Amino acid sequence: MKFYFAPFHGISMRIFRGIFFSHFGGFDAVVAPFVAAVPHSQLKPSYFSDIYPLSDTGPLIPQIMGNNARDIADTAAYLYNLGFERVNLNLGCPMPKITRKKRACGLMPFADEIEQIVSRVCETSPVKFSLKMRLGMYSAEECINVLERVNNYPVDEVIVHARLGVQQYEGTVDRQAFQHCCQMCRLPLCYNGDIFTQEDFQSVTLQFPHLHAVMLGRGMLQNPFLLEEIKGNSIPAEEKNRRFVNFHQDLTNTYLQYYPCQAMVVCRLKELWKYFYRSARLSEPQLQQLLRQQGDEFLTATCQLAEKSFI
Ligand SMILES: Cc1cc2nc3c(=O)[nH]c(=O)nc-3n(C[C@H](O)[C@H](O)[C@H](O)COP(=O)(O)O)c2cc1C
Repeated sequence: MKFYFAPFHGISMRIFRGIFFSHFGGFDAVVAPFVAAVPHSQLKPSYFSDIYPLSDTGPLIPQIMGNNARDIADTAAYLYNLGFERVNLNLGCPMPKITRKKRACGLMPFADEIEQIVSRVCETSPVKFSLKMRLGMYSAEECINVLERVNNYPVDEVIVHARLGVQQYEGTVDRQAFQHCCQMCRLPLCYNGDIFTQEDFQSVTLQFPHLHAVMLGRGMLQNPFLLEEIKGNSIPAEEKNRRFVNFHQDLTNTYLQYYPCQAMVVCRLKELWKYFYRSARLSEPQLQQLLRQQGDEFLTATCQLAEKSFI
């Protein structure tokens, strides 16, 4: 069983990854947040500044988004030549401003177009190409149609977040529909969605014993020790607290060093505290109060909260 860290656009960017994975390792691969596929003439290393030069945070899989087969194939081949053995295509982002343009999850109802993309990438480059999709934009039949089309190509793997695009992040994952994917998919399959505890992981792997991999997302942001716990490591609360405080200090200091103004640091940390607040056992109203704070007041409050985490 392999473990992947999910991409979080605006959160799991270069600096975050550098710090997070120096404190909480153990993933077989990390998928980077998406960049748009662009025509060949626009491809240059600086366009991939979030991922290039290759960092030493373990195997990183760049993710691209688009709907033009030629641009996607050119971008994937370019990344391969930059040294990335694997490239992932985003078919899961549900944001209306993206799906409206028939990108990401908005492409899921168009299985033929996805097949054209996969065919072109596989024909033109030795890159290991994987897909990260939802069950569909509107219906779980969409992923079945897509799997039927791509099963015959040498796709590296298929990662399925077991929700529909129209659900955004609401409601529950549809494990029955994912079961159908398992039956249909002849490619290595990775499960993603709502694994927040060791018990969630056990129940997923019990129900789907032939998974190639599991991808952890928000569960890792809420509890950075989740992977270690899944792997059977029981960590005393004091140790979790000490490690989380160290991580949080390291992250805050590094953000302050790299970002040009404190407001940007506060903005980045606020996105994270929407997940971290659980480790400090804050209620929702307390979180909202925290998010209203600015500048030094916010930075001091989060340092104090980190001290209370996990105990
Ligand atoms: C703020 C945010 C940003 C995300 N950015 C990306 C992204 O760039 N690419 C992608 O494939 N998925 C993205 N996702 C989806 C996650 O990678 C993951 O599939 C989703 O959160 C479900 O997994 P989880 O329940 O384990 O969190 C994002 C999710 C959130 C909440």
